[in-house]
Amino acid sequence: MIRRREFIQRAAVAAAVFGFPLAQAEKMFSQGAPPLPSQNLLASDPDRYWAELRRQWLLAADHVNLNCGSVGCTPLPILRATIDHLLSAEEFREPAYPWFGYEENTRLRELRDALAAYLNCKRDELALVRNATEANNVMANGLDLKPGDEILMTDQEHPGGRGPWEQRAARYGVKLNTVALPKPPESDEQIVDIFARGITPRTKVIFFSHIPTVSGVVLPAKKICALARERGIFSQVDGAHTIGQIPLDMHDMGCDFYGTSPHKWLMAPKGTGTLYVREELLEKVWANTVSGSWKDYSLKAYRFSVFGTSNLSVFVGLKAALDFHQTLGPDRVYARMHEMARKVHDHVAKYPQLYFWNASRDEYYGGLTCFGIKPSADGTANKGLERAAAECAARNIRIAGGADHFRIATHIFTQPTELDLFFDALDTGLRA
Ligand SMILES: Cc1ncc(COP(=O)(O)O)c(C=O)c1O
Repeated sequence: MIRRREFIQRAAVAAAVFGFPLAQAEKMFSQGAPPLPSQNLLASDPDRYWAELRRQWLLAADHVNLNCGSVGCTPLPILRATIDHLLSAEEFREPAYPWFGYEENTRLRELRDALAAYLNCKRDELALVRNATEANNVMANGLDLKPGDEILMTDQEHPGGRGPWEQRAARYGVKLNTVALPKPPESDEQIVDIFARGITPRTKVIFFSHIPTVSGVVLPAKKICALARERGIFSQVDGAHTIGQIPLDMHDMGCDFYGTSPHKWLMAPKGTGTLYVREELLEKVWANTVSGSWKDYSLKAYRFSVFGTSNLSVFVGLKAALDFHQTLGPDRVYARMHEMARKVHDHVAKYPQLYFWNASRDEYYGGLTCFGIKPSADGTANKGLERAAAECAARNIRIAGGADHFRIATHIFTQPTELDLFFDALDTGLRA
């Protein structure tokens, strides 16, 4: 039982930092975290297990969140770990450097070890950064390239991946080439062939999102990286959406660089990210934001984490997020979020006017289901999704997309009843 003074303090910090109303924060922090439902319940009544687990989130009961792909939803144990650290750090009891952004302290080392084990890479290959955008910036600005060298990317890149390369092109004259990905793709061979046909003798980097923001398709990253390696080209992968959504193995994938945003699917606090740099390349990459250690190569990948004073508490939260994920079981998490995505798939598949942007095969989607709308029979734009988007907004159902396409994110906190509310909004919009 925490003391009253501590609970009031925690609640006030939660209210200030996360913008919760104070009354709600007080309610949450006046009691212990709700216990996790038992594994027996998962076996006997899985829907009830996942419904009980939902008590771990602060998600408003009168809103449906089907867009945790843009910004993730962080559960209570992770918020608590973050807030507790924020408070205890200010006591300055720990002798090591107490924040993030300079030397590595024990907490950061433990976190890197745990993440390296989870991502199957070495700790020395893993930097902590603040999000995928920052990881993308390190990669786009870090390699020595000459004017006229070419970067190959897809037409589905997020601005946080494309922008750093556009700036590099504007400043230093590298050339950007783009390949168009089909919506949906037919096969891995088709996708790899599209990349292969985009390569020229001057291509130095293939940059792609493992799960692009536009379509949510899970690209065959290992095969694309193998193509790059075969041709002597660097592979840079934007994995903003992957960590916590699909299994990841850096060494098996064979990529050169890989960045993530764990706030999305791993449900970590916002402002946490990871950057993997293959060991052999560590000394070939310039750090982007630097301090005195800019040429201290003995730091290995940690050289990319020396930003100046930053927030350690959110990284304590990232460790709690990884622990939470591992306690639940990554396989079970994937199975449940994909089961919910399959319900979306099956509902959408009933409509001949809708077509998938990713879910043409089971392995091409995880927790994101993306679909577009075909033109009406007379060739004019079909307004069905526009109306459905308005229905969703009116019913407090948060989705990504609009008139042209919807991107629906399902996670372990998504309840079948919430999907029914979404299906009703979609049906209403498409019926009119
Ligand atoms: C593929 C991809 N890359 C980068 C980002 C940017 O993520 P962040 O704002 O966490 O850096 C996103 C965000 O949705 C994304 O989908």
